[in-house]
Amino acid sequence: MGSDIHDLSLAPQGWNRIRWADGEMPVLRAIRERFARERPLAGVRVAACLHVTTETANLMRTLRDGGAAVALCASNPLSTQDDVAAALVAEWHLPVFARRGEDRDTYYRHIHQALDTHPHLTMDDGADLVSTIHNARQELLPEVIGGSEETTTGVLRLRSMARSGVLRYPIVAVNDALTKHLFDNRYGTGQSTLDGLMRATNLLLAGRTVTVAGYGNCGRGLAMRARGMGAQVIVTEVDPVRALEAHMDGYRVLPMLEAARVSDVLITVTGDTSVIRREHFEVMKDRAIVANAGHFDVEIDLAALADLVEERQPVRPHVEECRLRDGRRIYLLAEGRLLNLAAAEGHPAAVMDMSFANQALTVEYLVRRGRELRPDVYPVPPAIDRQVAALKLEASGITIDTLTPEQDRYLQSWQEGT
Ligand code: ADE
Repeated sequence: MGSDIHDLSLAPQGWNRIRWADGEMPVLRAIRERFARERPLAGVRVAACLHVTTETANLMRTLRDGGAAVALCASNPLSTQDDVAAALVAEWHLPVFARRGEDRDTYYRHIHQALDTHPHLTMDDGADLVSTIHNARQELLPEVIGGSEETTTGVLRLRSMARSGVLRYPIVAVNDALTKHLFDNRYGTGQSTLDGLMRATNLLLAGRTVTVAGYGNCGRGLAMRARGMGAQVIVTEVDPVRALEAHMDGYRVLPMLEAARVSDVLITVTGDTSVIRREHFEVMKDRAIVANAGHFDVEIDLAALADLVEERQPVRPHVEECRLRDGRRIYLLAEGRLLNLAAAEGHPAAVMDMSFANQALTVEYLVRRGRELRPDVYPVPPAIDRQVAALKLEASGITIDTLTPEQDRYLQSWQEGT
């Protein structure tokens, strides 16, 4: 089985960075060591469509040490770290199909190449493997046991497939594990999105007005970290409960049309389409910066922007100046693709440690139990969630209390009141 990567000579640099990330991933490492002893994935073929990063490399090693044959393709054309792709090929002879900056056709060709390995399990970040199998590669379905999904957007797509009755195999929504979305989505997206913003622009955030569109876990993390850097943060929402939460968390809550007039930076993290669109571009300040941290590049209406633009030119890596016909300039970051992985390195390894520990344990669970599940979207078993949290606490040197027998009895009873 071949590979399609950019440059094999980058492998030594990739390997060094993978080892560095491994140092921050003690939970995944403990699982890898157990997998190497027990080989619970022996004979299993896994196709993974993930951001090709140092953290993903450590997950791939873990599955491989568990006995799986793994193939990897990119889940976004701009997020691949070419040195990591090279190291996976050079060190572990993994079939990797990913080149940073690949065009749309190459992106889908790579997905097909990963699927050509006839996987028993799919591992997605955005549901592209599942949708490609269902749309174009149905001949693979008889061999597929199940799949896992890493991100909110993917889970939404898969739930929609399940609701419409078209989903043909069971999926575990890793995103929905508490030890995934409460940490990765919040602390990971919060930090890595600002990292991408600052690497791309070198902007001083203190005193700036930053709009965060969407107050899910990712938006909460991003708003929190932007405030921590001294920005005045505006939140836009469509959900009344989330809007109220943002208000009570101390943010200004505005409709996008008003936020667009006053913001220096606007970042979308909603998972929905056309969140920033023509009417918003029309009122933005000169030099407004627009970026997306949601999974797909649909949140900023790029066609509407193109329609208003007279001239566009790159001014720094990942920063494109769009000069509108009325003379205002809007700066688009990372072509509207997810900023944290395009302009920075994605979430730090310490938080991916938990997300990918959930992935590894979910694969083990699917190998054991997947054949008993009907096609649907399932939660990560709570025992896995608790195990990941306990291992992370242990690795962080944190011990916690346990209930006394009296407390345990009290919680089980209903007789005792005031
Ligand atoms: N998603 C967000 N950050 C990531 C990372 N560092 N590796 C893989 N997937 C990610």
